[in-house]
Amino acid sequence: MVLNKKIPTKIGVLTSGGDAPGMNAAIRAVVRTGIYHGVQMAGIIRGFTGILENDIVDMDNRSVANIIQRGGTILKSARCKDFYTKEGRAQAIKNLQQHGIEALVVIGGDGSIRGAMHLGNEFNFPCVAIPGTIDKDLAGTDFTIGFDTAVNTAVSCIDKIRDTMEAHDRLFIVEVMGRHAGYIALNSGIATGAEYILVPEAHTSMKRIATSLNEKTKRKKLVNLVVVAEGYGENGAVGFVEELKKYLPNVDARISILGHIQRGGAPTCMDRLIASRMGYHAIECLLEGKQQVMIGIKNNAICYTPFEDALAVQQITHDAWLKIIKILAS
Ligand code: F6P
Repeated sequence: MVLNKKIPTKIGVLTSGGDAPGMNAAIRAVVRTGIYHGVQMAGIIRGFTGILENDIVDMDNRSVANIIQRGGTILKSARCKDFYTKEGRAQAIKNLQQHGIEALVVIGGDGSIRGAMHLGNEFNFPCVAIPGTIDKDLAGTDFTIGFDTAVNTAVSCIDKIRDTMEAHDRLFIVEVMGRHAGYIALNSGIATGAEYILVPEAHTSMKRIATSLNEKTKRKKLVNLVVVAEGYGENGAVGFVEELKKYLPNVDARISILGHIQRGGAPTCMDRLIASRMGYHAIECLLEGKQQVMIGIKNNAICYTPFEDALAVQQITHDAWLKIIKILAS
């Protein structure tokens, strides 16, 4: 962890990458904790893009009123291509300095944390990150903001699909979000009693799945549900069904792609709580002179993980779950 003796007098906060329910609760906590400590607070609109476009506004306690319960992000979000270049980041530093911003709180996923890491490594600019992503694909924390809400949304949608699935004795393939990570699929799949859960990180034999689904149909198992992460194989649920039809040409399967509905809606209590705790500690962390770390929660305690370690590839513990899934779905 890098220690900085100079205490920032003005701190900027931004949300970047895919939005996640609970980001507003984190912004609220960051701004109010900063104000409590007498720090000037600035909100940057549309993530790193807002720095480059000088879209920066002063914030006070009232700027973050009535947002703890709202999904999305009042600061808006974006994926900023210019930030991939060192020239873009150098321009960002100039703009931040012009606004008197001496440190940043970045709320977002792996791409956003990478951006913050570059600002620290290349320009020694103090940054801390708060993990905000529905994908939960960061090391150094048991939770990321938005994951709990996204999984609960997926579960409530799949529960509804089960009703019609059972009425028609049909096979349903439900695709949930997760381009590179299978945590949403794994969690929502287990919680809805899926027969199979397919994630980008692991390969599952199609022949085995086809044989097992066929056998379950024959013995009239009530529910035949497969939950697939969008990043599984070539084309998520659609690619899965194409492959399956090579083994079961007459299968009566329906695909339901849940999509961005999983990113919206009011954050759950859990997401509001972790966002509030992480937002508070992000400011405390900067004021203690700590920087270049992601705030996390492990075993219910706040912890700080260097950016590089937070970005270390996460190997999903899929194998450990496979046996449970198989036994419970029999
Ligand atoms: O934010 C994470 C995520 O929702 C992934 O699960 C998904 O693959 C991706 O973002 C979608 O991004 P976009 O909204 O830019 O299409």
